[in-house]
Amino acid sequence: MKVKITLTALLVLLLSVMTVEASGAEIVGGPYLCNPRMDGMTVGWVADTANAGQVDYGKTKAYGNKAVVTLCDRIVQKPKVKTQRFACRVRLRKLVPGVTYYYKVSGKGLSGQKEGQFRIPKRDEPHLTVFQTDDCALTDLGLRFVEKKVGRAADLLVDGGDTVQRGRDYYDFKAQLYRRLPLVVAKSNHEHDWPDKQANLHHFDYENCTAENLEHVIDYGAVRWILGPYVRYSDNFTQKQLTWIEEQLKSTERKWKFYACHHIFFSDGYHADLRWGTKAGEGKARRQSVWPLFMKYDMRLAVNGHDHAYQRTFPIDKDGNKTLRGTVNLDVAIGGSIQRRQSPWMARFIGRGKDKDKRITGVTYLYVSGEKATVEFYTYPKKDPKLEDFKLADRFTFSTKNFHQDAMAPGPSNKAPRKTK
Ligand SMILES: [Fe+2]
Repeated sequence: MKVKITLTALLVLLLSVMTVEASGAEIVGGPYLCNPRMDGMTVGWVADTANAGQVDYGKTKAYGNKAVVTLCDRIVQKPKVKTQRFACRVRLRKLVPGVTYYYKVSGKGLSGQKEGQFRIPKRDEPHLTVFQTDDCALTDLGLRFVEKKVGRAADLLVDGGDTVQRGRDYYDFKAQLYRRLPLVVAKSNHEHDWPDKQANLHHFDYENCTAENLEHVIDYGAVRWILGPYVRYSDNFTQKQLTWIEEQLKSTERKWKFYACHHIFFSDGYHADLRWGTKAGEGKARRQSVWPLFMKYDMRLAVNGHDHAYQRTFPIDKDGNKTLRGTVNLDVAIGGSIQRRQSPWMARFIGRGKDKDKRITGVTYLYVSGEKATVEFYTYPKKDPKLEDFKLADRFTFSTKNFHQDAMAPGPSNKAPRKTK
């Protein structure tokens, strides 16, 4: 009997040790950077335990400063998934532009450590923005290509939204790029429609955004980005929202200002025909109300996603008439949408029509340097892409005051990469 008790006790002890080991918290995504400012940055990560970890940071890899978790939200999982996921964030403050900061996430219940680094760009430097939206996440290779092409490390990743679906991110912050490139996101319908609204919005950890629609404005390096507000499908902006947008357009001394929101204004794709709401067609009402503001304040580029294609208009006014003092509407969601019409204002459309097997994807960037801004879009094969596979599919340039003639011509022809057998 004595032996039996001893064996049972040993078994209980062994099981309890195994349980302790199994409950060691892990980072399952990230770290990633978000909420960038000229003097601050948020470091976030996804872990299987709440409130685990801390950030050590500093100007060298010896770090020297410590910051603790300031926010931690539970992330909604797919319906049958039993694992728990938490988004933890640490806000780093009093940072200085032009300085490279090193950081590591570790300690306080987390196993292992993960490192990253970032540099806040100075206001008078050239500035490189890359884009992603919907299910077209930027890849490490795509970023490498753009940085090699431009000859500068990217400063900012602007995301057009719809990057969560059924309780998970399209990107799981697994790519290395999220450790060094801050992310800003426009709110969109997938996030909006999700019942537990806040649970998936961990990368919307913005200071000074409005609570209602999470619109926010970011001054970063040479650029002011205005993101949102979110407006459902074919709805128009409210007067209050238009007033907010105008306030952001006129209250900056930065000569480069750009706008991003999820729902496209001028589309020739799937969403040009209405599927939800009124019979007005998505974007029609909104472009009538907001485009005059864009042009009044020399806002040259409005970036969207939602309709899964690359689409670029000529510089146009609210009615789609070409003008060098107009604004270009750019949809960076290369993917499966088909071209439903050929509008006179559309300069370039690359969707499923040109890519029946969905074999290509792409990367879009915006580079501002001095008085000139350049946008380029490159396609590459989805399967096993290499740097030499990237092909120029669209390009245009402009100044703060007007577009150059290259924006008035349709984009260069681009053949989809052939399937190799
Ligand atoms: Fe959408």
